Amino acid sequence: MLPAEIDLTVYPDECDAFGHLNQASFLALFERARWEMLARGPGMDIFTRHATWPAVRRAVIDYHVAAYPGDVLRFHQALTHHGRTSFTMRQTARRMRDDALISTAEFVFVCINREGRPAPVPAEFGEFMNARPAPAGNARRLTVNGVNLAVDASGDGPAILFIHGYPLDHTIWSPQLEALDGWRRIAPDLRGMGQSDAPDLGYSMATYASDLAALLDTLGVERVVLCGLSMGGYVAFEFLRRWRERVSGLVLIATRAGPDTTEGKRARDAAAAQAREGGAGVIADAMLPKMLAPGAPEGLVARVRALMAATPVPGIVGALGAMRDRPDSMSLLPALAGLPALVIAGGSDQLMPVSEMSAMAAAIPGARLVVAPGAGHLPTLETPSIVTDALRTFLAQPG
Ligand code: MLT
Repeated sequence: MLPAEIDLTVYPDECDAFGHLNQASFLALFERARWEMLARGPGMDIFTRHATWPAVRRAVIDYHVAAYPGDVLRFHQALTHHGRTSFTMRQTARRMRDDALISTAEFVFVCINREGRPAPVPAEFGEFMNARPAPAGNARRLTVNGVNLAVDASGDGPAILFIHGYPLDHTIWSPQLEALDGWRRIAPDLRGMGQSDAPDLGYSMATYASDLAALLDTLGVERVVLCGLSMGGYVAFEFLRRWRERVSGLVLIATRAGPDTTEGKRARDAAAAQAREGGAGVIADAMLPKMLAPGAPEGLVARVRALMAATPVPGIVGALGAMRDRPDSMSLLPALAGLPALVIAGGSDQLMPVSEMSAMAAAIPGARLVVAPGAGHLPTLETPSIVTDALRTFLAQPG
């Protein structure tokens, strides 16, 4: 169990006449879970040691499913905002027996002193709540837009923001991140994927795009070349709708501008149900045959499967809902006139066929199309030098 997880049992005296855990007791359990977590970590006296007290200023609780006497609930606590005198904690309660999400809550606290005036949040508290294993490789953690994102940011020069697809992470860009000297390469794991936080709710293209805008603000980057692969392209379209003035160029890889069909939307819901029931491995097995071109090296197949299978289930379910509900971006394409654009297609991509990619490129004024023969849905890893060379040529153009 993680230090931020606490198991508590529901007792009969906490339930209403129909045997459901009642609201007052639920609030008490959320509070108990917070104190238990501190008791097992830096100590329950962490606030009094610093002559301050966390007073709840706002509480929002969503009840999803009833809990009954004897249920063991696992409470998970995460710090989603850490200000000077206030902080926000998000808590979830899941039933251990069937992993059902029982309730989600968000509490905003203000630290006050004895006189009731705002006082600094003890640094020790923030350190304890944020203590997580460092992300692998070059990535580091940054809290933006209320979530902790793992971000690989390296190099100097004009910025390029790499947005990965589903259910993947920033490492699909590894060959390009290594090669593109002279550029500030920023490659986050989107919320819910890779090593970023995976909240239970709140996923949409708008949220992903807002996370990225907030990330750029945090890094002090004003304008970027957006480079999105598949779902990353959907996020790039949303970013463009909101912050066109921040975009200096656009690279779309293995993606599409149109929305899901009715049948496609149904398939998203079915996949979400499968993920909830069978976990990320089931999704990885279903997607793997469509991800890579036939004959991909065994090592790459294993790597891509492991990547997908490691995606947290809430992130998978959230991304499926966000893709299902994404807006139609077709009308955006002609409006991109004046923005340098490059489209890269995998010659053997079953998910985004070349014909569709080339129609999309034709609809963007001045866009260039590069087809990577021998690549499926992940040309960045399958044919890395074709993608890197195409990017180099594109980025060298005066923009
Ligand atoms: C992706 O690779 O991001 C997804 O396959 C996109 C999609 O399912 O629409």
